[in-house]
Amino acid sequence: MTEYDKARSSEGGSAETDVKTVDLARLVAALGHRSIVLVGIMGCGKSTVGKRLAHRLGLEFIDADTEIERAANMSVAEIFAEHGEPYFRSGEERVIARLLREGPQVLATGGGAFMSEATRSEIAEHGLSIWLKVDFDTVMARVRRRSTRPLLQNPDPEGTMRKLIADREPVYAKAALTVTSRDVPHEAVVDQIIATLAEHLFNREATSAAQTSMS
Ligand code: S3P
Repeated sequence: MTEYDKARSSEGGSAETDVKTVDLARLVAALGHRSIVLVGIMGCGKSTVGKRLAHRLGLEFIDADTEIERAANMSVAEIFAEHGEPYFRSGEERVIARLLREGPQVLATGGGAFMSEATRSEIAEHGLSIWLKVDFDTVMARVRRRSTRPLLQNPDPEGTMRKLIADREPVYAKAALTVTSRDVPHEAVVDQIIATLAEHLFNREATSAAQTSMS
């Protein structure tokens, strides 16, 4: 068994569906115009996994933070420093609402985006949210490698991260779907996402077809 297979079998996530058997074209068709929206804490892999997921599904990948930076012509760190967090958050709401009109696509959101009730309801209307739930040690190891995140530029990034996770997890849990992983290869997480999406989309199709035939 390779490391990759071990990761897949131990992280299982959606053990019911063998990802190799999933009809990806049918999965994309079942999305309609909805975007797959990745949510979760900084460092959980929304962008890295999102790019690979988009590639596997033949969809476009969009990173909301990159689009915010493009719209403002400034980096996220510069927006925080020059205009403050509330300004960033209102820009984030507007940009995500606009991007959601362009599905289907894979959309990675910044770690704080799903905290906005307005954004959650936009996502529920135009997307399918997936929380990438990753343990503290894994995200901390990843965010330590980069110093671009303004919320962690303080003397106690670990304490900040613990508090952010505690505050946000109950909200991330409102996502339509959750995929849990540890520090496993990104392709294994992509497999879990595809299996989870297939179960959700195809079972729902089957349920609504059964309901229609009974009515
Ligand atoms: C933030 C996460 C960042 C970015 C900004 C604020 C947050 O995105 O939007 O620094 O509030 O958690 P990533 O989750 O992609 O790092």
